[in-house]
Amino acid sequence: MSLKENINLSKLPQHIAIIMDGNGRWAKQQGEQRIFGHENGVRSVRDTVEAAAELGVKYLTLYAFSTENWNRPQEEVIALMQLLVHTISAETKTLNENNIRLQAIGDLKSLPQDCFNELQEAMEKTKSNSRTTLVLALSYSSRWEIIDAVKRIAEKVTTNTLSPQNITEQTINEHLCTAGMPEPELMIRTSGEHRISNFLLWQLAYAELYFTDKLWPDFRKEDFYEAILDYQNRERRFGKTSEQLISK
Ligand code: IPE
Ligand code: IPE
Ligand code: MG
Repeated sequence: MSLKENINLSKLPQHIAIIMDGNGRWAKQQGEQRIFGHENGVRSVRDTVEAAAELGVKYLTLYAFSTENWNRPQEEVIALMQLLVHTISAETKTLNENNIRLQAIGDLKSLPQDCFNELQEAMEKTKSNSRTTLVLALSYSSRWEIIDAVKRIAEKVTTNTLSPQNITEQTINEHLCTAGMPEPELMIRTSGEHRISNFLLWQLAYAELYFTDKLWPDFRKEDFYEAILDYQNRERRFGKTSEQLISK
């Protein structure tokens, strides 16, 4: 049986988040510039999005560019932004054909104008699609997101539209970029790094973390299935005991 057939569709994560890492090292292994790795990572994005849609995963969030990535060499940042503009405009048609909606989280206003415009256009054109939502985390970091949420909550308190006593988990959820999305149940990071790198700190509170040594440009559908199968073999206790879960 293939890996895909082993997946229990009734226990599929609704939301999978991925830190796509290792493009630079992949390029270096080939004796190429870092951007060559980013270019080759697009194929992995296509494969993963397709696999998620075929299985019926409702949300797939891809960490494509972090707030901290602005500190990379200028030429890499520019090349990445160009790749982004090009890829988004080239893939919109395929997204529509596959009934996939595009959304984005992050400080989108900090993106170069052409990139921002391309993104807005693609989101607008795909907004009625319902099979899977592809969420791109762009110029995103969790601390930026939390600061932004706190500012907006504080504003409501100042104007007396919200009382501090009424601030709940739901209030926080509603002010994050991910408002309305289910929490990721599975977070995958490629390239052998075992860290979160400022990604969805609040939302990943109870996510299962899966790490693979594969570099992102080598990541294929089978690797995605493997991560889901690993997830399905775990016991998610949410603070309870194993016995409590069994007796349910
Ligand atoms: C991930 O690959 C892509 C981005 C962060 C934009 P890297 O560019 O971080 O590749 P490594 O980690 O240096 O190999
Ligand atoms: C995290 O990867 C950000 C993205 C994948 C977009 P990095 O390569 O930037 O993370 P660190 O610096 O290794 O933690
Ligand atoms: Mg990296």
